Amino acid sequence: MRLTLKIWRQADSAAAGRLVEYVADHVSPDISFLEMLDVVNEGLIKKGEDAIAFDSDCREGICGMCSLVVNGVPHGPDRGTTVCQLHMRRFRDGDTITVEPWRAKAFPVLKDLIVDRSAFDRIIAAGGYVSVNCGGAPDGNAIPIAKEVSEAAMDSAACIGCGACVAACKNASAHLFVGAKISHLSLLPQGQVERRRRVVAMIQQADAEGFGSCSNEGECEAVCPKEIAISSIARMTREYVGAVLRPGP
Ligand code: SF4
Ligand code: FES
Repeated sequence: MRLTLKIWRQADSAAAGRLVEYVADHVSPDISFLEMLDVVNEGLIKKGEDAIAFDSDCREGICGMCSLVVNGVPHGPDRGTTVCQLHMRRFRDGDTITVEPWRAKAFPVLKDLIVDRSAFDRIIAAGGYVSVNCGGAPDGNAIPIAKEVSEAAMDSAACIGCGACVAACKNASAHLFVGAKISHLSLLPQGQVERRRRVVAMIQQADAEGFGSCSNEGECEAVCPKEIAISSIARMTREYVGAVLRPGP
């Protein structure tokens, strides 16, 4: 395939960015989107030009590092799929593809397609530790937990902290991410001790980082590669109201 790429280039967080056009030739439909960018970068490096900076790590959909907006959609056109798992067979010869970084005040661009997502780390840190000694896997298995509860907790634990929910939201809200983290621990018995303190601290930290509010439009759920349900936001809000009305452990 021959593709025209319009890629966001920005030297650093203080510089003005712009879309720069590149032509990618002989693109195999079998390679992934990130491998296609690797090939483009090899060509740029051979010409002595600055390679396009983008984040990735696992390239198998589990680390949450890849953070590209492809043709206006965080993680691109495939539902429930990270951009590292997107393959070029999804595109056609002659296509023009626009590639941009996550755009949110709380995720400043560091370079080109790389944004600083340490705001998410600070929200997690604000949640604090689980003080219950959970023991090993056999101990966990010995605690009777209703199947639907353990499955709901595991569904929330699937969040990989990628930030696509923020990038898709017109308010740059982190509610789906925080809701997933709150749901995961508030559903399990081990998460009960710090339950009230945790939800208040994490929401306060999200506000302090500059993430917006939720206006219930569902873009976050639509782009989430782990298909975290928007109902986790309702659960988080219930947890928060309960914690504010009845503070304490
Ligand atoms: S809720 Fe989904 S989109 Fe948001 S950080 Fe978690 S995995 Fe990514
Ligand atoms: S590189 Fe790890 S999820 Fe995409």
